[in-house]
Amino acid sequence: MWKGRFSESTDAVVRDFTQSLDLDWVLAPWDIAGSLAHARMLGQVGLLEPSEVKTIEESLMVVRDEIASGAFKPDPELEDVHMNIESRLTDLAGPVGAKLHTGRSRNDQVATTVRLFLRDRLLDTAEGLERLMSELLSLAGRHLDIIIPGYTHLQQAQPISAGHYWMAHFTAFSRDLDRLYFALDSLNECPLGAGALAGSTLPLDRFLTASSLGFPAPTRNSLDTVSQRDYMVDYHSFAALFAVHCSRLAEDFVVYSSAEFGWLILPDAFCTGSSMMPQKKNPDVPELVRGKAGQVIGRLVDLLVTLKGLPSTYDRDLQEDKRGLLATLNTVSGILAVLPPLLASVRIDRARARRGMEDGLVLATDVAEHLVSRGVPFREAHAMTGRLVKECIARGKGLLDLSREEWGELLPAASDDLFPDLSLERAVERRTTYGGTSPAMVEGQMAYGEELVARSRERRKKYVRTVTPASPNATETECNQAEGSKTLDE
Ligand code: ARG
Repeated sequence: MWKGRFSESTDAVVRDFTQSLDLDWVLAPWDIAGSLAHARMLGQVGLLEPSEVKTIEESLMVVRDEIASGAFKPDPELEDVHMNIESRLTDLAGPVGAKLHTGRSRNDQVATTVRLFLRDRLLDTAEGLERLMSELLSLAGRHLDIIIPGYTHLQQAQPISAGHYWMAHFTAFSRDLDRLYFALDSLNECPLGAGALAGSTLPLDRFLTASSLGFPAPTRNSLDTVSQRDYMVDYHSFAALFAVHCSRLAEDFVVYSSAEFGWLILPDAFCTGSSMMPQKKNPDVPELVRGKAGQVIGRLVDLLVTLKGLPSTYDRDLQEDKRGLLATLNTVSGILAVLPPLLASVRIDRARARRGMEDGLVLATDVAEHLVSRGVPFREAHAMTGRLVKECIARGKGLLDLSREEWGELLPAASDDLFPDLSLERAVERRTTYGGTSPAMVEGQMAYGEELVARSRERRKKYVRTVTPASPNATETECNQAEGSKTLDE
């Protein structure tokens, strides 16, 4: 496609080293969608005859079908998905095929193709995240009245509602959802027409191409357009923090399901056994979720390092951007496939969760706050309760085992109205500060959470899908119109 200037053909090693088919062949359906829009625009502005547009359209459909059926085997000699498709188009359409690349460079083409592809995948991701968040909401509803230990420093701190615990993870994921939409908005501008870097002398209508691809607008600066990958960084940033959040949930599962804690029960179908020790039930799924988070963080750093110090505008280094992107998309979709069903069948052993708190030492803050309500300054109340706990430990007793006489002896400042409140239930019920663990507060968080998920479902519909259903393997992708969602392909 660029041989005119050269007097030698490309060395075979160079061909292997520079080709990107192993990365970009999956982008074929999105590349074709971009080419269709470009050809139609060229027709609208008079650079192609209507009959030429028709021939290009029909031939691109044939190429699309050949790729979908697996009949089209890309040729590494042709470097990438873009040149393979154009070359096949020219085979099919004849000389008119050679007109498709009018006013276009692979630099604006690849940016467009990736953005279209990424938009579809991020819409899938948003849907997956909604599913994950919905599972947490329903767990919170089911477990609202279950009391579990709340930990700081992984030491028992205060009793909490299990519903509150699930909503904590929900709340972290709700911020991830915001960041995902930030990435979606960041990619949602059309690069086509930026050309290699400076635009074109031809009368291209960038607004037309943009709107026909479902982009609200074309990008604003052609140099920046072929240079930047901010939208990918935004996606990787979303993914990195999402993976970090998943890893923390996963770590909780590993810890809480171990024999020493033992109150969280993971479904057998999501655990594996040991080849040697017959008693083992290992939390491999959470461990792998935890483990994969490292790679997702690494791929954010990988892209940032690729971009750092890169001269303006397009540089071939940018071809490597797809490696980490595809890998992270797959990691995230893997996590989103496994976590919701795992959550759907996770259980809590109520009795065991309480058993760990039987001594009532987790109620020490409640005792100190009782003293505060009696007018004792908090620091003093803290010290007095601390001495009480120390004495309990010395006598080998829990707070809940003390007789009224012992209370009178050890904490004379306490009054009788402390005792009805000295239970795990009351400790949870009475924490009614906004955002606190009382079931009433958690219900408020859940109602807001339902609203967030419903809002995301609506918000998703405002973005145009190019190819549905989006599949990690483009050769299996069907370009059919999905029911109810906007799609560009016919
Ligand atoms: N395969 C290339 C990529 O993925 C396409 C752009 C190549 N442009 C160029 N000037 N060599 O980035």
